Amino acid sequence: CGIVGYVGSQSALDVVMAGLKRLEYRGYDSAGVAVLADGQLAAAKKAGKLVNLEKELAERPLPAGWTGIGHTRWATHGAPTDANAHPHLDNAGRVAVVHNGIIENFAELRGELTERGHELASETDTEVVAHLLAEEFSATADLAEAMRLVCRRLKGAFTLVAMHADEPDVVVGARRNSPLVVGIGDGEAFLASDVAAFIAHTRSALELGQDQVVELRRDGVTVTGFDGRPAEPRAFSVDWDAAAAEKGGYASFMLKEIAEQPKAVSDTLLGRIDAEGDLTLDEVRISASELREMDKVVIVACGTAFHAGLIAKYAIEHFTRIPCEVELASEFRYRDPILDAQTLVVAISQSGETMDTLMALRHAREQGSKVLAICNTNGATIPRESDAVLYTHAGPEVAVASTKAFLTQLVACYLVALYLAQVRGTKWGDEVRAVVRDLAQIGGAVERVLDTMEPVRELARSLADRNTVLFLGRHVGYPVALEGALKLKELAYMHAEGFAAGELKHGPIALIEEGLPVVVVVPSPRGRSLLHDKIVSNIQEIRARGARTIVIAEEGDEAVVPYADHLIRIPPTPTLLQPLVATVPLQVFACELATVRGNAVDQPRNLAKSVTVE
Ligand code: G6P
Repeated sequence: CGIVGYVGSQSALDVVMAGLKRLEYRGYDSAGVAVLADGQLAAAKKAGKLVNLEKELAERPLPAGWTGIGHTRWATHGAPTDANAHPHLDNAGRVAVVHNGIIENFAELRGELTERGHELASETDTEVVAHLLAEEFSATADLAEAMRLVCRRLKGAFTLVAMHADEPDVVVGARRNSPLVVGIGDGEAFLASDVAAFIAHTRSALELGQDQVVELRRDGVTVTGFDGRPAEPRAFSVDWDAAAAEKGGYASFMLKEIAEQPKAVSDTLLGRIDAEGDLTLDEVRISASELREMDKVVIVACGTAFHAGLIAKYAIEHFTRIPCEVELASEFRYRDPILDAQTLVVAISQSGETMDTLMALRHAREQGSKVLAICNTNGATIPRESDAVLYTHAGPEVAVASTKAFLTQLVACYLVALYLAQVRGTKWGDEVRAVVRDLAQIGGAVERVLDTMEPVRELARSLADRNTVLFLGRHVGYPVALEGALKLKELAYMHAEGFAAGELKHGPIALIEEGLPVVVVVPSPRGRSLLHDKIVSNIQEIRARGARTIVIAEEGDEAVVPYADHLIRIPPTPTLLQPLVATVPLQVFACELATVRGNAVDQPRNLAKSVTVE
């Protein structure tokens, strides 16, 4: 969910609505706002996307006020209805609260409140907080203190922002796990889940720590722990401007972000390879001697980042000979994984907020393992709680389906693999240097792929009425196939599955029928010719059974030509690095299919960009 709070001298409604627009990627099931005007709270909330709320506000305007809060929701407790949308108010309508996360003991608290005569109007855990805050405020007449008292009784993960009609120039926020940042302006202050919400007003920000409460006033902010002790939040300055988070002439953020990939990839390499071709990853603050002691690498991630992890395994094991496991973060801690001080855990996350990944990393650190985060968001929770972080430099990614962040995660994974090889001295030699050289050129190769995408778009349009598309790959092409299928599910809402091409004959081949589109990712014919030959056979097997083959193969690979109904060419790239170029046509393919099917490309149904619940 996305949260905004404001105190100042501008129209709170305007500031909050503009902020919500920037945060809509975090959830778009429903949205709501509340403002404080003339000692009264006024709220509006609406199911569906933010435009529904805008319409509602146009029809039934709220009074002008200078203190306000807002929320854009990704539903957890209760369906995305008007009633369940945030803000939630207490019975007297004196306190309004918005919330991100899940309050685990809400049933128990709700029971207590009902016993004490409260009437709860929604099915949400958030409403319980509004009622508890109202009770504590009547005892203390201090909203920040009321918030601290309430937070101490809550279990689970939550970020809360509240205001009270009796404290007209105050907004209070509380943070446990889910992110919350403060923006400091001149005579005004902001609270939001992400700096994007207030970047148009100020670049000066404070990052709240775990279990902290902030009181926002026009002339400053006060931060304490839940226990009331003063806290010192980390101040930082936002280094990208509002324009980076604008569409800049593209029809969607996704198209813009796909187009930004050559630069994103190059930016992520910048300053990390020296003139001799050696890697300098100074920010990896795990000592060389500790890295030499590692006897296992475990990668945890979700969604697209998990696919980056699957590819990383090939590079890490190949270059370092250290065994590497890759696991979905949501499964990791529940199976009691074997971890110790000799295990290097790599947590990959674009947002740095994904709760599943955060919980996995906490579990790993509790077992004594060192955690290295690969993250795109400066100062997010995952990098802050890790022992070291390697930032990807993709810039803000707004479209829910990840594209440029994925490519930069891959670059970061290769850097980690090569760096481990460099530090440990294993296999460090001509091959590694050659790969570093290839990596340095990869931005240009991605650019070339982007320049030749029109036939891919045309092909996508011709498949608009299909129900199923399958994806096949071998070696690193297998995770690429999984990613291609995920993109199609997320964006086009089509049944799509990725398979290891060799596994096809053990079951999935039964799915092949006349005309079924099957995308095949073909490795470079150079170097690993055995792998290449095997997949050419797989293409023949499916074609013989009626599949319509869509083949992604290197320029100059003639062996595939007779079996390809559609041929998508990519620049020659060593197989290990090929995902950096082979993924791009699959992104374009899914984006175009979503567009022709009339889907919301940047905000696919039911999804959210950062999922801050487990
Ligand atoms: C959500 C998004 C996915 C993303 C995943 C992991 O489910 O919809 O696109 O891959 O989270 O996100 P992260 O920020 O941890 O990389």
